[in-house]
Amino acid sequence: MAIRHLMSPLDFTVEETEKLLDLAGDIERHPEKYSRICEGKRIATLFYEPSTRTRLSFEAAMMNLGGKVLGFHSEDSSSAAKGESVSDTIRIVSCYADIAAMRHPKEGAPLVASLKSGIPVINAGDGGHQHPTQTLTDMLTIRSLKGRLDHLKIGLCGDLKFGRTVHSLIESLSRYEGVSFVLISPEELRVPSYVRNGMLAKNIPFEEVVKLDEDTMSGLDILYMTRVQRERFFNEADYVRMKDFYILDRDKMDVAPKDMCVLHPLPRVNEISVEVDDDPRACYFRQAKYGVYARMALILTLMEIEVK
Ligand code: NCD
Repeated sequence: MAIRHLMSPLDFTVEETEKLLDLAGDIERHPEKYSRICEGKRIATLFYEPSTRTRLSFEAAMMNLGGKVLGFHSEDSSSAAKGESVSDTIRIVSCYADIAAMRHPKEGAPLVASLKSGIPVINAGDGGHQHPTQTLTDMLTIRSLKGRLDHLKIGLCGDLKFGRTVHSLIESLSRYEGVSFVLISPEELRVPSYVRNGMLAKNIPFEEVVKLDEDTMSGLDILYMTRVQRERFFNEADYVRMKDFYILDRDKMDVAPKDMCVLHPLPRVNEISVEVDDDPRACYFRQAKYGVYARMALILTLMEIEVK
């Protein structure tokens, strides 16, 4: 049987995605049912770029399923530092583990690895391209906060050019009826043309604006804040000019819709002031918790393990 990988959120149909989110919901409600289901299985976390949530939540996910974890957390602690290709690395890792999650600064690296892999490969973030498991996390969060994934008005704010979580989330939610987007960014950090063309092709209503104010936030169900992706900038001066472009603070929250949930994939730098953390509409820390359930469900789905 063909091995199934996850490179983009569109690798799953809407039905498959719903099924996975349902499974994540069941895991959240009945963790004990799943606590030994991956006994004897291993996940390899192959991280060529820094990570806190994604790597640790993959590892926690496998441990919660009764499995084990191996891997590396930086390029210099692996043979990549000696010049080994991702294709060779994954061939080797296929002998040691049953599934792998790979984060890499180069767009497409996990895809290249998947072509030579003997085990399922999960894209845990490839450069400024895609981040499908953050999207599963975001969708699980949105569904649990709002009770639906359709008929939502979603504002995405910050670095929409390099922010891979934004690209994956837009592509995924564009498949749901009645979804519209307000894209809030400096001119230089607008979504890449492939993302914009995808929305145009599907007739998804969206507007691109620069200011984050009462007007742009009006009617939003979700405001998805993002960090300016320093590591993807060609020069530091541009980053410095952009980095504090948006700061969501208490004054802004005062004029935001009363039922607007604020999400952020984290890490945050300055774009959400800490004074917002106590606002009941601030949901980003809860969102991080959903990442474990989403990844547990994903591991089971790709490994084709069913609970009896
Ligand atoms: C995001 C990422 O790595 O793209 N972080 C995460 O996985 N939660 C967002 C970011 O780094 O800004």
